[in-house]
Amino acid sequence: MIRKPGADRQDPHLKLKKMSTQTQQPSTFPLSDAVVMITGALTGIGQATALAFANEGSRVVVSGRRKKEGFEFAAKLRGMGKTAEFIYADVTREGDLKSLIEQTIAKFGRLDIAVNNAGTEGTPGPVTDQTPETYAAIFDTNVLGVLLSMKHELLVMKAQGHGNIINVSSTLGIQGGAGASVYSASKHAVEGLTKSAALEVAATGIRINAVAPGPIDTDMLTRFAGNDDSKGRTKAKVPAQRFGRPEEVANAIVFLASDKSPFLTGQSIVIDGGKTA
Ligand SMILES: NC(=O)c1ccc[n+]([C@@H]2O[C@H](COP(=O)([O-])OP(=O)(O)OC[C@H]3O[C@@H](n4cnc5c(N)ncnc54)[C@H](OP(=O)(O)O)[C@@H]3O)[C@@H](O)[C@H]2O)c1
Repeated sequence: MIRKPGADRQDPHLKLKKMSTQTQQPSTFPLSDAVVMITGALTGIGQATALAFANEGSRVVVSGRRKKEGFEFAAKLRGMGKTAEFIYADVTREGDLKSLIEQTIAKFGRLDIAVNNAGTEGTPGPVTDQTPETYAAIFDTNVLGVLLSMKHELLVMKAQGHGNIINVSSTLGIQGGAGASVYSASKHAVEGLTKSAALEVAATGIRINAVAPGPIDTDMLTRFAGNDDSKGRTKAKVPAQRFGRPEEVANAIVFLASDKSPFLTGQSIVIDGGKTA
Protein backbone atom coordinates (compact mmCIF):
# COMPACT_ATOMS: atom_id res chain seq x y z
CA MET A 1 0.00 0.00 0.00
CA ILE A 2 1.36 3.43 -0.97
CA ARG A 3 1.28 5.90 1.88
CA LYS A 4 1.11 9.63 1.23
CA PRO A 5 4.07 11.56 2.68
CA GLY A 6 3.30 12.46 6.27
CA ALA A 7 0.41 9.94 6.50
CA ASP A 8 2.14 8.15 9.40
CA ARG A 9 1.55 11.24 11.54
CA GLN A 10 -2.16 10.35 11.46
CA ASP A 11 -1.67 6.60 11.89
CA PRO A 12 -1.61 5.65 15.60
CA HIS A 13 -0.34 2.15 14.78
CA LEU A 14 2.77 3.55 13.12
CA LYS A 15 3.29 6.17 15.80
CA LEU A 16 3.27 3.43 18.47
CA LYS A 17 5.59 1.21 16.42
CA LYS A 18 8.18 3.99 16.46
CA MET A 19 7.69 4.52 20.21
CA SER A 20 8.19 0.85 20.98
CA THR A 21 11.65 0.78 19.40
CA GLN A 22 12.71 3.67 21.63
CA THR A 23 11.35 2.53 25.01
CA GLN A 24 10.64 -0.95 26.31
CA GLN A 25 7.28 -0.97 28.08
CA PRO A 26 6.65 -3.42 30.92
CA SER A 27 4.26 -6.23 30.01
CA THR A 28 1.85 -5.27 32.81
CA PHE A 29 0.66 -1.87 33.89
CA PRO A 30 -0.57 -0.87 37.33
CA LEU A 31 -4.35 -0.67 36.94
CA SER A 32 -4.20 2.86 38.35
CA ASP A 33 -2.24 3.90 35.24
CA ALA A 34 -4.01 1.72 32.68
CA VAL A 35 -6.07 2.71 29.66
CA VAL A 36 -8.95 0.26 29.42
CA MET A 37 -11.47 -0.12 26.60
CA ILE A 38 -14.67 -2.14 27.04
CA THR A 39 -17.13 -3.03 24.26
CA GLY A 40 -20.82 -3.31 25.06
CA ALA A 41 -20.07 -1.30 28.20
CA LEU A 42 -23.39 0.45 28.70
CA THR A 43 -25.27 -2.37 30.45
CA GLY A 44 -24.85 -5.49 32.58
CA ILE A 45 -21.40 -7.09 32.81
CA GLY A 46 -19.77 -4.44 30.60
CA GLN A 47 -21.04 -1.60 32.77
CA ALA A 48 -19.95 -3.34 35.99
CA THR A 49 -16.52 -3.94 34.41
CA ALA A 50 -16.15 -0.27 33.46
CA LEU A 51 -16.99 0.73 37.03
CA ALA A 52 -14.58 -1.84 38.50
CA PHE A 53 -11.66 -0.54 36.42
CA ALA A 54 -12.64 3.09 37.10
CA ASN A 55 -12.60 2.30 40.83
CA GLU A 56 -9.03 1.01 40.39
CA GLY A 57 -8.09 4.42 38.96
CA SER A 58 -7.91 3.27 35.33
CA ARG A 59 -8.89 5.55 32.47
CA VAL A 60 -11.85 3.86 30.80
CA VAL A 61 -13.30 4.03 27.33
CA VAL A 62 -16.88 2.79 27.42
CA SER A 63 -18.06 1.72 24.00
CA GLY A 64 -21.49 0.80 22.72
CA ARG A 65 -24.16 1.44 20.12
CA ARG A 66 -26.45 3.76 22.06
CA LYS A 67 -24.96 7.24 21.98
CA LYS A 68 -27.25 8.95 24.49
CA GLU A 69 -26.74 6.24 27.13
CA GLY A 70 -23.02 6.11 26.33
CA PHE A 71 -22.40 9.83 26.82
CA GLU A 72 -24.54 9.73 29.99
CA PHE A 73 -22.61 6.79 31.44
CA ALA A 74 -19.24 8.41 30.74
CA ALA A 75 -20.49 11.68 32.28
CA LYS A 76 -21.73 9.75 35.34
CA LEU A 77 -18.29 8.18 35.79
CA ARG A 78 -16.60 11.58 35.43
CA GLY A 79 -19.08 12.94 38.00
CA MET A 80 -17.70 10.29 40.37
CA GLY A 81 -14.19 11.68 39.82
CA LYS A 82 -13.17 8.98 37.31
CA THR A 83 -11.59 9.44 33.88
CA ALA A 84 -13.98 8.13 31.23
CA GLU A 85 -14.96 8.68 27.61
CA PHE A 86 -17.71 7.18 25.46
CA ILE A 87 -16.78 6.07 21.95
CA TYR A 88 -19.43 4.66 19.62
CA ALA A 89 -18.87 1.26 18.00
CA ASP A 90 -21.02 -1.49 16.56
CA VAL A 91 -18.71 -4.50 16.87
CA THR A 92 -20.07 -6.10 13.69
CA ARG A 93 -18.50 -3.25 11.67
CA GLU A 94 -14.74 -3.31 11.17
CA GLY A 95 -14.61 0.41 10.39
CA ASP A 96 -16.22 1.19 13.76
CA LEU A 97 -13.69 -0.99 15.61
CA LYS A 98 -10.70 0.54 13.81
CA SER A 99 -12.04 4.00 14.61
CA LEU A 100 -12.72 3.00 18.25
CA ILE A 101 -9.10 1.99 18.76
CA GLU A 102 -7.75 5.02 16.88
CA GLN A 103 -9.91 7.38 18.95
CA THR A 104 -8.79 5.64 22.17
CA ILE A 105 -5.14 6.18 21.21
CA ALA A 106 -5.86 9.78 20.19
CA LYS A 107 -7.46 10.48 23.59
CA PHE A 108 -5.21 8.52 25.92
CA GLY A 109 -2.06 7.63 23.92
CA ARG A 110 -2.19 3.87 24.61
CA LEU A 111 -4.44 0.84 24.89
CA ASP A 112 -3.30 -1.32 27.81
CA ILE A 113 -6.38 -3.49 28.44
CA ALA A 114 -9.29 -4.41 26.17
CA VAL A 115 -12.43 -6.22 27.30
CA ASN A 116 -14.40 -7.68 24.40
CA ASN A 117 -17.74 -8.00 26.13
CA ALA A 118 -20.39 -7.05 23.52
CA GLY A 119 -22.60 -10.02 22.81
CA THR A 120 -26.07 -11.12 21.88
CA GLU A 121 -28.27 -14.10 22.68
CA GLY A 122 -29.96 -13.71 19.28
CA THR A 123 -33.07 -15.79 18.82
CA PRO A 124 -33.02 -18.77 21.20
CA GLY A 125 -34.92 -21.86 20.03
CA PRO A 126 -34.42 -25.37 18.73
CA VAL A 127 -32.06 -26.13 15.86
CA THR A 128 -35.06 -26.75 13.60
CA ASP A 129 -36.10 -23.08 14.01
CA GLN A 130 -32.71 -21.64 13.05
CA THR A 131 -32.04 -19.88 9.73
CA PRO A 132 -29.04 -18.35 8.01
CA GLU A 133 -30.28 -15.02 9.35
CA THR A 134 -30.55 -16.11 13.03
CA TYR A 135 -27.11 -17.72 12.70
CA ALA A 136 -25.53 -14.61 11.18
CA ALA A 137 -27.11 -12.29 13.74
CA ILE A 138 -25.35 -14.14 16.57
CA PHE A 139 -22.08 -14.99 14.84
CA ASP A 140 -21.56 -11.49 13.42
CA THR A 141 -21.63 -10.03 16.94
CA ASN A 142 -20.21 -12.78 19.14
CA VAL A 143 -17.56 -14.24 16.83
CA LEU A 144 -16.73 -11.74 14.07
CA GLY A 145 -17.03 -8.93 16.63
CA VAL A 146 -14.47 -10.56 18.95
CA LEU A 147 -12.17 -11.49 16.05
CA LEU A 148 -12.13 -7.97 14.59
CA SER A 149 -11.87 -6.37 18.04
CA MET A 150 -8.80 -8.47 18.81
CA LYS A 151 -7.34 -7.71 15.37
CA HIS A 152 -7.36 -3.94 15.89
CA GLU A 153 -6.42 -4.17 19.58
CA LEU A 154 -3.45 -6.41 18.78
CA LEU A 155 -2.21 -4.16 15.97
CA VAL A 156 -1.77 -1.47 18.62
CA MET A 157 -0.63 -3.74 21.45
CA LYS A 158 2.04 -5.46 19.35
CA ALA A 159 3.39 -2.07 18.30
CA GLN A 160 3.35 -0.87 21.94
CA GLY A 161 5.02 -4.07 23.12
CA HIS A 162 2.44 -4.75 25.82
CA GLY A 163 -1.26 -5.36 26.33
CA ASN A 164 -3.90 -7.54 27.86
CA ILE A 165 -7.18 -8.75 26.32
CA ILE A 166 -10.12 -10.40 28.06
CA ASN A 167 -12.94 -11.86 25.97
CA VAL A 168 -16.35 -12.55 27.49
CA SER A 169 -17.34 -16.11 26.68
CA SER A 170 -19.93 -18.20 28.58
CA THR A 171 -20.36 -21.56 30.26
CA LEU A 172 -22.21 -22.27 27.00
CA GLY A 173 -18.77 -21.93 25.41
CA ILE A 174 -17.72 -25.13 27.14
CA GLN A 175 -20.99 -27.04 27.26
CA GLY A 176 -24.10 -27.26 25.11
CA GLY A 177 -27.49 -25.69 25.80
CA ALA A 178 -30.78 -27.04 24.52
CA GLY A 179 -32.48 -24.18 22.70
CA ALA A 180 -29.25 -22.19 22.57
CA SER A 181 -27.31 -24.05 19.88
CA VAL A 182 -26.18 -21.06 17.86
CA TYR A 183 -25.28 -18.98 20.92
CA SER A 184 -23.40 -21.96 22.39
CA ALA A 185 -21.56 -22.52 19.11
CA SER A 186 -20.62 -18.83 19.00
CA LYS A 187 -19.19 -18.91 22.52
CA HIS A 188 -17.26 -22.14 21.72
CA ALA A 189 -15.77 -20.07 18.89
CA VAL A 190 -14.84 -17.32 21.35
CA GLU A 191 -12.96 -19.92 23.41
CA GLY A 192 -11.08 -21.05 20.27
CA LEU A 193 -10.28 -17.49 19.21
CA THR A 194 -9.01 -16.71 22.71
CA LYS A 195 -6.66 -19.70 22.88
CA SER A 196 -5.35 -19.29 19.33
CA ALA A 197 -4.72 -15.55 19.58
CA ALA A 198 -3.08 -16.05 22.99
CA LEU A 199 -0.66 -18.54 21.45
CA GLU A 200 0.17 -16.14 18.61
CA VAL A 201 1.33 -13.41 21.01
CA ALA A 202 2.37 -15.29 24.17
CA ALA A 203 6.09 -14.72 23.53
CA THR A 204 5.54 -10.96 23.33
CA GLY A 205 4.16 -10.75 26.88
CA ILE A 206 0.68 -9.81 25.64
CA ARG A 207 -1.88 -11.94 27.47
CA ILE A 208 -5.30 -13.00 26.18
CA ASN A 209 -7.84 -14.81 28.37
CA ALA A 210 -11.58 -15.25 28.64
CA VAL A 211 -14.17 -15.33 31.36
CA ALA A 212 -17.00 -17.83 31.05
CA PRO A 213 -19.93 -16.68 33.15
CA GLY A 214 -22.86 -18.90 34.08
CA PRO A 215 -26.26 -17.26 34.61
CA ILE A 216 -25.63 -13.65 35.65
CA ASP A 217 -28.48 -11.35 36.60
CA THR A 218 -28.56 -8.98 33.62
CA ASP A 219 -31.04 -7.98 30.92
CA MET A 220 -29.64 -10.77 28.74
CA LEU A 221 -30.52 -13.40 31.32
CA THR A 222 -34.07 -12.04 31.52
CA ARG A 223 -34.36 -12.12 27.71
CA PHE A 224 -32.80 -15.60 27.59
CA ALA A 225 -34.67 -17.21 30.46
CA GLY A 226 -37.97 -15.45 29.86
CA ASN A 227 -40.64 -15.34 32.56
CA ASP A 228 -40.22 -15.74 36.34
CA ASP A 229 -41.03 -19.50 36.27
CA SER A 230 -38.39 -20.15 33.69
CA LYS A 231 -35.91 -17.92 35.55
CA GLY A 232 -36.65 -19.91 38.72
CA ARG A 233 -35.90 -23.20 36.95
CA THR A 234 -32.63 -21.78 35.64
CA LYS A 235 -31.67 -20.60 39.13
CA ALA A 236 -32.46 -24.02 40.62
CA LYS A 237 -29.83 -25.58 38.36
CA VAL A 238 -27.10 -23.41 39.91
CA PRO A 239 -25.50 -25.24 42.87
CA ALA A 240 -25.03 -21.90 44.66
CA GLN A 241 -28.84 -21.46 44.33
CA ARG A 242 -28.57 -17.93 43.01
CA PHE A 243 -27.66 -16.00 39.89
CA GLY A 244 -24.27 -14.34 39.70
CA ARG A 245 -23.93 -10.58 39.89
CA PRO A 246 -22.27 -8.59 37.09
CA GLU A 247 -19.72 -7.32 39.64
CA GLU A 248 -18.59 -10.89 40.29
CA VAL A 249 -17.65 -11.29 36.62
CA ALA A 250 -16.08 -7.81 36.58
CA ASN A 251 -13.82 -8.77 39.51
CA ALA A 252 -12.51 -11.81 37.60
CA ILE A 253 -11.85 -9.63 34.55
CA VAL A 254 -9.91 -7.14 36.69
CA PHE A 255 -7.86 -10.02 38.13
CA LEU A 256 -7.00 -11.26 34.62
CA ALA A 257 -5.99 -7.73 33.62
CA SER A 258 -3.85 -7.20 36.70
CA ASP A 259 -0.26 -8.01 37.60
CA LYS A 260 -1.65 -10.72 39.94
CA SER A 261 -1.93 -13.08 36.94
CA PRO A 262 1.24 -12.56 34.85
CA PHE A 263 1.63 -16.25 33.85
CA LEU A 264 -2.02 -16.73 32.99
CA THR A 265 -2.79 -16.70 29.27
CA GLY A 266 -4.93 -18.64 26.80
CA GLN A 267 -7.32 -19.69 29.58
CA SER A 268 -10.98 -19.26 30.39
CA ILE A 269 -12.13 -18.68 33.96
CA VAL A 270 -15.57 -20.11 34.72
CA ILE A 271 -17.72 -18.02 37.07
CA ASP A 272 -20.92 -19.99 37.54
CA GLY A 273 -21.73 -20.81 41.17
CA GLY A 274 -20.62 -24.39 40.53
CA LYS A 275 -22.95 -25.05 37.58
CA THR A 276 -20.32 -26.78 35.46
CA ALA A 277 -18.44 -28.41 38.36
N1 LIG B 1 -25.92 -12.61 31.63
C1 LIG B 1 -25.51 -13.87 31.51
O1 LIG B 1 -26.08 -14.80 32.11
C2 LIG B 1 -24.30 -14.20 30.65
C3 LIG B 1 -23.74 -15.46 30.79
C4 LIG B 1 -22.65 -15.78 30.01
C5 LIG B 1 -22.10 -14.85 29.15
N2 LIG B 1 -22.66 -13.62 29.03
C6 LIG B 1 -22.04 -12.68 28.11
O2 LIG B 1 -21.73 -11.48 28.78
C7 LIG B 1 -21.66 -10.41 27.84
C8 LIG B 1 -22.46 -9.23 28.38
O3 LIG B 1 -23.83 -9.62 28.48
P1 LIG B 1 -24.79 -9.13 29.65
O4 LIG B 1 -25.23 -10.33 30.39
O5 LIG B 1 -24.16 -8.00 30.39
O6 LIG B 1 -26.07 -8.65 28.82
P2 LIG B 1 -26.47 -7.25 28.20
O7 LIG B 1 -26.75 -6.29 29.32
O8 LIG B 1 -27.52 -7.53 27.21
O9 LIG B 1 -25.12 -6.76 27.50
C9 LIG B 1 -24.79 -6.99 26.18
C10 LIG B 1 -24.19 -5.71 25.65
O10 LIG B 1 -23.63 -5.95 24.36
C11 LIG B 1 -24.03 -4.87 23.53
N3 LIG B 1 -24.05 -5.24 22.12
C12 LIG B 1 -24.78 -6.21 21.52
N4 LIG B 1 -24.53 -6.23 20.22
C13 LIG B 1 -23.61 -5.25 19.98
C14 LIG B 1 -22.94 -4.78 18.83
N5 LIG B 1 -23.18 -5.31 17.61
N6 LIG B 1 -22.04 -3.79 18.96
C15 LIG B 1 -21.80 -3.24 20.17
N7 LIG B 1 -22.40 -3.62 21.30
C16 LIG B 1 -23.30 -4.63 21.20
C17 LIG B 1 -25.42 -4.50 24.00
O11 LIG B 1 -25.73 -3.21 23.56
P3 LIG B 1 -27.17 -2.85 22.88
O12 LIG B 1 -28.00 -2.39 24.03
O13 LIG B 1 -26.84 -1.80 21.89
O14 LIG B 1 -27.69 -4.12 22.24
C18 LIG B 1 -25.25 -4.62 25.51
O15 LIG B 1 -24.77 -3.41 26.08
C19 LIG B 1 -22.16 -10.97 26.52
O16 LIG B 1 -21.08 -11.30 25.69
C20 LIG B 1 -22.89 -12.25 26.94
O17 LIG B 1 -22.94 -13.21 25.90
C21 LIG B 1 -23.75 -13.28 29.77
